[in-house]
Amino acid sequence: MTAKIDHDPGLEEVIAARTRLSHVDGLQGILTIGGFRLEELAGHATYEEAVYLLWQDRLPNVTELADLRERLAALRTLPDETLHVLNMAAARHMPGMDALRSATGTLESSGDPQRDAYRLIGVFPTIVAAYARLIEGQEPVAPRADLGHAANYLYMLTGEVPSEARVKGLETYFVTVIDHSLNVSTFAARVIISTQSDMISAITGAVGALKGPLHGGAPAPALDMVFEIGDESRSESYLRAKLGAGERLMGFGHRIYKVRDPRADVLNAAAEAMYKADGDMRLYRLARHVERDALRLLEEYKPGRRLQTNVEFFTALLLHGLGLPTGLFTPTFAVSRVAGWCAHCLEQLRENRIIRPGSAYVGEMDRRWIPIEER
Ligand code: ACO
Repeated sequence: MTAKIDHDPGLEEVIAARTRLSHVDGLQGILTIGGFRLEELAGHATYEEAVYLLWQDRLPNVTELADLRERLAALRTLPDETLHVLNMAAARHMPGMDALRSATGTLESSGDPQRDAYRLIGVFPTIVAAYARLIEGQEPVAPRADLGHAANYLYMLTGEVPSEARVKGLETYFVTVIDHSLNVSTFAARVIISTQSDMISAITGAVGALKGPLHGGAPAPALDMVFEIGDESRSESYLRAKLGAGERLMGFGHRIYKVRDPRADVLNAAAEAMYKADGDMRLYRLARHVERDALRLLEEYKPGRRLQTNVEFFTALLLHGLGLPTGLFTPTFAVSRVAGWCAHCLEQLRENRIIRPGSAYVGEMDRRWIPIEER
């Protein structure tokens, strides 16, 4: 007989950390990053400014921003052993997140969490871009210190200096997803660093957590749906068939946001600007048409569930417009989120208490040992 003990398997009701980094108000649809509403920050800030904001709790002045940019740019080069691991991963056609996890583990901790944080943010884009090329049988493109973080990432992927519109699109994406309160990968990183382990270990664990389809999400299926629909005239019948068969529409619904995810609007605006300047507007218009139909039909088939477009839908559209293959969507998310992970780890270390929740024991008690020949 086991006692029924209350427990909270998803920890939804548990407040496990105090943070000044970001806050999610899912009922009002407000995401605050470093005190700024997302709509205020994204579109204004460069990625480096957002990193500075997370770490210092204020925006940098011109000199401070130049210093940070220079410092990160100087840390972009891959160590030989990291490149070696990426080559082996490519030979085995490992998925991008597995390659990123393995490559992160090759980085040596300096023992100083802040220094490791610079290193991780500097080198993550190089790891992901190098792997994207290696798996296609191409040589990696060496980073360029004169380009900003977002521009250099696109440059390392393609070997070409990207247009301003593309840089702006990626910059907005990077700032939009840089942090999102105590999400699973961030929590995983904080748990690991709370043992006074090192930053490299904490971030390697976070990459592992982000890989899961319940967290890193699946922006690729949202885009596949738009491609399968192919034409506005087929949108409603396609969506009705899916919903009628009890299937879920990818890119809609969220555990916390019960109104529209503010990241969806910000990324939609970024995608629209980018497609207008430098993309296939037909695809953008089709996606918006599919979205409108989907929202209308979700209300019809699932009344009162308050299902709205989530971040994945417009992530897919934006990253596809930037020319990224679907396999790069989640690793590119990590290229941005690594700054949030590091900021949370530094915050955890400042007020550290080892994170060690309890558990409800539901097993037997007071068993007596039975010799093996009597079992
Ligand atoms: N399409 C159709 N119906 C849906 C969808 C959807 N996308 N999402 C939820 N529903 C329905 C459910 O079937 C359920 O209906 P019921 O009450 O008749 O059983 C109801 O809405 C509530 O769904 P839950 O599963 O309880 O919602 P939950 O909060 O657990 O799920 C989730 C959130 C996982 C994101 C869900 O909405 C979903 O599967 N969406 C599609 C996948 C997706 O877009 N994932 C990326 C999420 S964004 C991110 O994680 C960063």
